[in-house]
Amino acid sequence: RTVYVNGEYLPEDQAKVSVFDRGFLFADAVYEVTSVLDGKLISFPGHAARLQRSLTELEMASPVSDAELLEIHRELITRNDLTEGLIYLQVTRGAADRDFLYPAPETVPTLVLFTQAKPALEHSPMVQTGMKIVTIPDRRWGRRDIKTTQLLYPSMGKMEARARGADDAWMVEDGAVTEGTSNNAYIIKDGVIVTRHLGEEILHGITRKAVLAFAREAQMKVEERPFTVEEALSADEAFITSASSFVTPVVSIDGADIGTGRPGKVVARLREIYLDEMR
Ligand code: PDD
Repeated sequence: RTVYVNGEYLPEDQAKVSVFDRGFLFADAVYEVTSVLDGKLISFPGHAARLQRSLTELEMASPVSDAELLEIHRELITRNDLTEGLIYLQVTRGAADRDFLYPAPETVPTLVLFTQAKPALEHSPMVQTGMKIVTIPDRRWGRRDIKTTQLLYPSMGKMEARARGADDAWMVEDGAVTEGTSNNAYIIKDGVIVTRHLGEEILHGITRKAVLAFAREAQMKVEERPFTVEEALSADEAFITSASSFVTPVVSIDGADIGTGRPGKVVARLREIYLDEMR
């Protein structure tokens, strides 16, 4: 693979970042994951805007303009012959002596991007079978709207899900589902799509925004509010969204079936609408 590091395109084994990088030492870093479908970048403007917002919230300088960022994404797609997969991007506050205080403003940020190929969509087994979810307490920090690389808790959550025979975890706070470990969470009851409202408790998903807009255009009802695990258990259907999974059905929570226990029609339709609009 050819990867990008601070202005250079390099073979992956020649790309290097300092051991003093604050991304490494403090998780002082933000990231984005943008999907590539049929060689095309999906929702780039949304990802670029969210990146700028994350940087602003953390008082981090932006290493490149949106136009330059788009150019780097395109270059990586070309150089790696990427047709289906993802582009991962990370910006850190740069390398400096280890200190809890931020380094001098002139410290050069680190910008890294790489591609990750993935098999064509039709072969995604989760879409056919649906995902099994377990619930866990949400023990992340309070600014989940900033896309930082502090991913240890979500990583632990996925490990726990795996250990409990499931595919992923939904996190619960004050009795309500916040989101999945790396995706937004939804239920459908009597035709109404319910997903948590935007705030500091969840990441403002780019896929979420597009899917809700398409659902409303298709005259589906949407409620943006917290929902409980009990509500989820009595829902007709459930699903998740993210750049890496698009729209993927959820068929059980904590071992109990949702609806029929099989991927439902409304979710299938949403996935189809989303992919049709994006392709
Ligand atoms: N995760 N919520 C969380 C906690 C996430 O990490 C993500 C994305 C989402 C969905 O956002 P979007 O639709 O913009 O991808 C929601 C990426 C894919 C990841 O960490 O790999």
